[in-house]
Amino acid sequence: MLEKDTPRALEEAIRSLEGQFAALPEFSGAAAGPIGAVMGEVAARLGDNYPYFHPLYAGQMLKPPHPVARAAYALATWINPNNHALDGGRASSEMEREAVAQLAAMFGWREHLGHLTGGGTMANLEALWVAGSLNPGKKIVASAQSHYTHQRISSVLQLPFAKVATEARGRMDPAALEEMLKEGDVGCVVATLGTTATGSVDPLPEILALRQRYGFRVHIDAAYGGYFTLADNLGPETRSAFDRIREADSIVIDPHKHGLQPYGCGCVLFHDPGVGTLYKHDSPATYFSSRQQHLGEISLECSRPGASAVALWATLRVLPLAPGGAFAQGLASCRRAALALHARLSADARFVTPFPPQLDIAVWKPQKGSAQRIFDEAARRNLHLALARLPGTFFGDPAPEILCLRSVLMKPEHEQWIDRIWEILDQAANS
Ligand SMILES: Cc1ncc(COP(=O)(O)O)c(C=O)c1O
Repeated sequence: MLEKDTPRALEEAIRSLEGQFAALPEFSGAAAGPIGAVMGEVAARLGDNYPYFHPLYAGQMLKPPHPVARAAYALATWINPNNHALDGGRASSEMEREAVAQLAAMFGWREHLGHLTGGGTMANLEALWVAGSLNPGKKIVASAQSHYTHQRISSVLQLPFAKVATEARGRMDPAALEEMLKEGDVGCVVATLGTTATGSVDPLPEILALRQRYGFRVHIDAAYGGYFTLADNLGPETRSAFDRIREADSIVIDPHKHGLQPYGCGCVLFHDPGVGTLYKHDSPATYFSSRQQHLGEISLECSRPGASAVALWATLRVLPLAPGGAFAQGLASCRRAALALHARLSADARFVTPFPPQLDIAVWKPQKGSAQRIFDEAARRNLHLALARLPGTFFGDPAPEILCLRSVLMKPEHEQWIDRIWEILDQAANS
């Protein structure tokens, strides 16, 4: 069940890499020593996990990396480049620039400034830091369903923050936003294209129309949903939001969510490369090797794994970000899987669904009994779902919050597994 071709490809690549340093004097290098026993222990410890790689893991936002990402990441650790400065990783810095340019191009940006980050939190932190620096003292606002990181980051940056109410489908309510804008103190609106809990997509066209009247920065948190811009089966409202991403000031997208990368790979993009001047600093020890820009000069994090850039670059070679390509078709399958699960749930009197998925996340609650019990009974049968506390308003219920079931169907194979998933869910609900 676990992919095992990677080590063979890796071994060949290690030899090829070594060949490039053949002019160096012979040196035996650090021997691996007796690591077999420890690796056995490591494998034994790692077994204590949910089976994230398997299609019956249909809970949280977890997707296995592509084999080429795994192999390229591991290969890079033989060099261990640091993309802080060109001295630390010439090739991997170049690969980062190329990979980031492909992400920017996916959203329609040729001119941009951007780099990889440790994840979505760091990427959003940089975007809000830039927003706060350009509009000092003004508020950051994001929907009540936005990731909690925005409120926390704003507090770290000491920027005022407020939540905008959502409508019944978990999307930012433009009327509530306009009420806030009338106060005249909003500097940046965060539009989430793919909320963490339900995959809801904020109404970007309406937000952009408000920008014309009130003037504010638009930051898009597409950490989760960004790649869906390539899918050819989005609903018209969702499509209209994705088609306008290019009009934003900044975008966050996480290759370590839908982009088949190991954890430690987020990305922040700015439309105006001029914001790079905000990062200006002096580094008396690092920047001597080149007059070219070092990625550390446009990033708040200093040391960063070149291996992440190498893995992303290699994945994009295998699966380019092309509409209609294999990667785009995989995303469309994920969405079909979520729609199929939603259709079965809505047709079954034992369950209540609030709204159809905009991306590939299905949510529902049991008509009677507890979501927790179904979650536990499904897990006993090897189907791993997630739980989410959602506002009662999503179900037309006066309760402030309702514990619901949630399934992020982010593996393309999920589409083929819906019958099996449903069979187990059915048994769990009846048990
Ligand atoms: C929409 C959104 N933004 C930001 C984040 C935070 O990203 P990370 O966990 O990579 O720091 C997440 C994580 O799930 C997310 O879904």
